[in-house]
Amino acid sequence: MKTFLKVDDIGPLDLAVKEALEIKKDRFALESLGKNKTLLMLFFNSSLRTRLSTQKAAMNLGMNVMVLDVNQGAWKLETERGVVMDGDKAEHLLEAIPVMASYCDIIGVRSFAGLTDKEADYSENVLSQFIEHSGKPVFSMESATRHPLQAFADLITIEEHKTKQRPKVVLPWAPHPKALPQAVPNSFAEWMNAANVEFLITHPHGYELAPEFVGNARVEYDQRKAFEGADFIYAKNWSAYAGDNYGKVICTDRDWTVDTDKMALTDNAFFMHCLPVRRNMIVTDDVIESERSIVIPEAANREISAQTVLKRMLESL
Ligand code: CP
Repeated sequence: MKTFLKVDDIGPLDLAVKEALEIKKDRFALESLGKNKTLLMLFFNSSLRTRLSTQKAAMNLGMNVMVLDVNQGAWKLETERGVVMDGDKAEHLLEAIPVMASYCDIIGVRSFAGLTDKEADYSENVLSQFIEHSGKPVFSMESATRHPLQAFADLITIEEHKTKQRPKVVLPWAPHPKALPQAVPNSFAEWMNAANVEFLITHPHGYELAPEFVGNARVEYDQRKAFEGADFIYAKNWSAYAGDNYGKVICTDRDWTVDTDKMALTDNAFFMHCLPVRRNMIVTDDVIESERSIVIPEAANREISAQTVLKRMLESL
């Protein structure tokens, strides 16, 4: 595997999940695979789970790991070509990428959407420069438009907990005080559309995701109706995608918060969220602390999704 950016990069999902669950049974079985191989993890944005789980996954495989917080411990990087660099950015990505690539074997990149220019965000300018100029396998640790390691961990978690062959999975938008990217819901939708599930998205009018991510999902504007009979509720906030509202918060209605009344409409559904989560905005204390909340095993599976991807990349070196 040379890149891991989207669902197509992982191949058949049933095989990927099977491989992940084998790794989970004995995560140190391949501890010599990464001997003398180095992972470079680059963060243009903050992280808790991605940073720790990916580093742990690499260590399980015997890799060396370097972590760089771009724009904090290193020179600030210019990402656009043609810019007169007379500001606070001391180095250009076009020099920094080959330099960094010379020190490592695999590169992970986190670079969020700026949420002011839809075209720029959806062109994945930063990630595509790493793919073009590093000459190394590159994986996304959440890009402007997708978060595939999260979606893979979500799928593993659903496979582990499902009690029906084809469970009903609902992605409800939920309120948040700040504008968040669409990367997590985009990827979740992309992976659920490819998985053997009945998939619904529910959100207020104006929060439609890009059509290529909505795919064949049913969109239901009545949140309560969407919850009926659900087996998994995967709550998430995102900012508006459509038209001039791109990147904006256009609704903060807390009637969309996931609470026990709404969970009662489901078929005793499991509650999921990628974390970090704002309690009593996205979900009430009662729901996230309930025995049907699986946010912690979901986060724990980030180690397994990352290890599966790193294993495949090491095997392709
Ligand atoms: N879910 C997730 O990616 O968490 P972090 O932002 O903490 O890495």
